[in-house]
Amino acid sequence: MGVLAGKRIVLGVTGGIAAYKAVEVCRRLVDAGAHVSPIMTKGAEHFIGRTTLSALASEPVQSSLWDEESPIPHTRLGQGADLILVVPATARLIGAYAAGLSTDLLTATLLATRAPVLVCPAMHTEMWEHPAVHDNLATLRRRGVHIVEPEAGRLAGGDVGRGRLASPESIVAAAERVLGPADLHGRTVLVTAGGTREPIDAVRVIANRSSGRQGYAIAAEAASRGARVVLVSTVELPAPSGDVSIIPVETAAEMQAAVESHASASNIVVMAAAVADFRPAQAAPGKIKKDGGVPEITLEPTPDILAGLGSVKPAGQVLVGFAAETSDLVPNAQSKLLRKNLDLIVANDVSLPGVGFHHETNAVTIVRRHGDPIIVSLSDKRVVAKAVVDAAAALLGPQI
Ligand code: C5P
Repeated sequence: MGVLAGKRIVLGVTGGIAAYKAVEVCRRLVDAGAHVSPIMTKGAEHFIGRTTLSALASEPVQSSLWDEESPIPHTRLGQGADLILVVPATARLIGAYAAGLSTDLLTATLLATRAPVLVCPAMHTEMWEHPAVHDNLATLRRRGVHIVEPEAGRLAGGDVGRGRLASPESIVAAAERVLGPADLHGRTVLVTAGGTREPIDAVRVIANRSSGRQGYAIAAEAASRGARVVLVSTVELPAPSGDVSIIPVETAAEMQAAVESHASASNIVVMAAAVADFRPAQAAPGKIKKDGGVPEITLEPTPDILAGLGSVKPAGQVLVGFAAETSDLVPNAQSKLLRKNLDLIVANDVSLPGVGFHHETNAVTIVRRHGDPIIVSLSDKRVVAKAVVDAAAALLGPQI
């Protein structure tokens, strides 16, 4: 039996084109044994029929605060819920919820509950990137609301960009995480994310294409399972909800200092960052002038942070590395695991489409010291994050 079996879930559907995907989410929740009580806003009715959702959910759709048969439906729904899930959440709903407005059955129910709330935004890129929406989501996150970030992809009207609702699969996985056991409660997880930037002169850097999304997804997964997370990051992505402290860094040397000051107190360390292997031996103090001719830049190796952690790894710590490969994936990963004294290595063949840097998706093979490798076929980076955290958590000793 999964964690959703027997759980009472209020599924709020608001008026966005992605409302049709809420139908699939509803079906999956019911299949997993949850009792789903649907609420539709007036806007949602422009996109999907009430009958569709009523037929698939565990009880008929409700929309009104003024129901004669069941007075005060928002308190009944809010107090009885184990989870409230809003799929999709429009900018209007997010704004109203952040402001504490109770203007319809859904917003009233959100205020009348003490259950965890999972909000899945979907909107056009311009709206998603608007500072007001950004601030409202930051407010909700601060209050402990869980957010399933939208993806980039095709939007209504043929536009392409960030704002597309996360897949039903990842929404249901997020619901399972919120309702699942807090198996990392009391543990500290250190994660690095993004690519380092090594200065050439005052304005130029050697960088790489890492987006940091895989590291953020791992941090979010660990935090949602109750861990205290320290996220050492070179990128600015929305902070995951939960107990996450972000340490911004830019260079390999800064990352090394931040990592080394937190590693010994961490139960799990995941080096998901793409650390530069070489850096300019000396960064020019000003901007190198074009009219001085083509400059000669001497490179020197950066410290291998992960190998350093492996050489001083405290007993009981689970150390996880990443290996971006373009050939002989598993043998290369296995030798790196031994060389750097790791417990797990997450190997991805970055020559495949949709894998690795700059994609929303990833396909990995998690190589372990003992046992067969765990293969995660092309999936959302959140699904990969869950597999990585599952594999790391399985190696942790009992809590002392
Ligand atoms: O040896 P390779 O660079 O392929 O190993 C990749 C792993 O090592 C990643 O987990 C990366 O974060 C880490 N690494 C590091 N310091 C470096 C280079 C890579 O910690 N200078």
